[in-house]
Amino acid sequence: MNIRVGKFDLNNVKSETLVVGLFSGGKYGELINSLDRLTDGSLKRFLNKNLKFGKFLETSHFHISSKNHKNIEKLILIGMGEEKKLDNERLRNLGGVIGKQNAEVPSIAVYLPKETKLEDRVESLILGIDSGTFDPGHRKTEKVKNEKGKVESMEILTDGDLKKVADGVKLGQIIAQSVHKVREVVNLPANDATPEFMVSFAKKIAKDNNLQITVFSEQEVNKMGMGSMASVAKGSEEDLYFTILKYNGGGPKAKTLALVGKGITFDSGGISIKPSESMEWMKMDMAGAAAVLGAIEVIAKLKPKINVIAATPLTENLPSGKATKPGDIVKSYSGKTIEIINTDAEGRLVLADALTYVQKDLKADYIVDVATLTGASLIALGNFVTAIMGKPQEFVNQVMNAAENAGERMWQLPLFDEYREQLKSYIADIQNVGGRPAGTETAGKFLEEFVKEDSNWVHLDIAPTAWVESEKPYLAKGATGVPLATLVNLALNLAQSKK
Ligand code: BES
Ligand code: MG
Ligand code: ZN
Repeated sequence: MNIRVGKFDLNNVKSETLVVGLFSGGKYGELINSLDRLTDGSLKRFLNKNLKFGKFLETSHFHISSKNHKNIEKLILIGMGEEKKLDNERLRNLGGVIGKQNAEVPSIAVYLPKETKLEDRVESLILGIDSGTFDPGHRKTEKVKNEKGKVESMEILTDGDLKKVADGVKLGQIIAQSVHKVREVVNLPANDATPEFMVSFAKKIAKDNNLQITVFSEQEVNKMGMGSMASVAKGSEEDLYFTILKYNGGGPKAKTLALVGKGITFDSGGISIKPSESMEWMKMDMAGAAAVLGAIEVIAKLKPKINVIAATPLTENLPSGKATKPGDIVKSYSGKTIEIINTDAEGRLVLADALTYVQKDLKADYIVDVATLTGASLIALGNFVTAIMGKPQEFVNQVMNAAENAGERMWQLPLFDEYREQLKSYIADIQNVGGRPAGTETAGKFLEEFVKEDSNWVHLDIAPTAWVESEKPYLAKGATGVPLATLVNLALNLAQSKK
């Protein structure tokens, strides 16, 4: 989509549809007067009858005759709700609704009044606009018309700093592009998105963006002593791969941020097999891997002065005569032994060795792992909040700030030492599950066991947020691309703070 950024001036609007945002109870005296003149008075008549207009996402359309404006044919008012409630999530939803306006509209101009503080948030608006028109890709053999349509050209009009707005628009567009790619890949069925397919996805990102890539085969993973990661792949006919992408933007002295993404391309649970109801959903268990690959792609395009690694263990988790069994004990890459009580708690097993690798072999200064790790996090937080855990608190706060900028909701859960008790094995150093209480926290605690004392580490459990069943204005049913935007914001912020 082509986006022009310009100063707000009604005479200068080039699009045939103008969208204007109004807060509920907002007072826009002069603006309303000039818009009213365009509509020959029907706007004021409408607002006088609908004194409460402005509820979040409500819209109203007005015809504009050609004698009143040379380009604008239609005015759309969109409610922005209460001013103090407008956050980046709401801005994304607004964007989603704006993006969906009418397939026949060739061009839209958007003006959100200055109280919106658009110059600080335009990235979220653009993400919403772009995502609202995302077609998740269907496999119906009969062609289905995409009813949502697509806006081809857009003007963002502002009374704010043009450069700031233009930069935010560009950032939003670059992020949206990769978010779409990630959503497409996560939506793919597991017979297409195999571990091998994910490697080719990673290779393409590396090639297109000049990133270094290393792909360890299952044999090599075994040889290196990553017994925890390897144990998950034993039941599958598909080979495991551990891929590492590197973006070197900061030179040898710069800090390194490692993004570790869980890439289980299908999670049946293994021998601890899941109930068949909704098992088809578990094709999305590689959403963490897809998101970190998408994030490093965006980072490579933006070129911040920092080094970034995307590490993704890629495998299926299936039962077979060769599969890992409950009670099996494996030796992790860290040297610690793990008693596998439940083969369905496999995410933490692949992540444990990946975490050790990025610390020991790649000397990462900051680590963020991203995983659809526990059903318990969905129960605790509902399907719009990512669970965040980690240490030290300062780094957790940095990630939460990045999430807020990105319009992605996160809520911190604790990693109290008491949770470690639940992971005690009578026979090995640790066991891989801690029972039903605090299922998300004990998973985090398990991972912490594989993180050095003085590391900056955050664990994001995206089981709640990686997928939506019911659409939002900016999201079709399916994969969301979370937390790509947060990871990009984090990398940009870290690059700026550590010069
Ligand atoms: N992939 C699942 C977690 C999951 C659940 C993701 C729902 C998305 C939606 C994970 O591998 C898993 O099976 N976790 C178990 C852990 C348990 C055995 C301790 C779970 O949550 O039940
Ligand atoms: Mg295998
Ligand atoms: Zn599982």
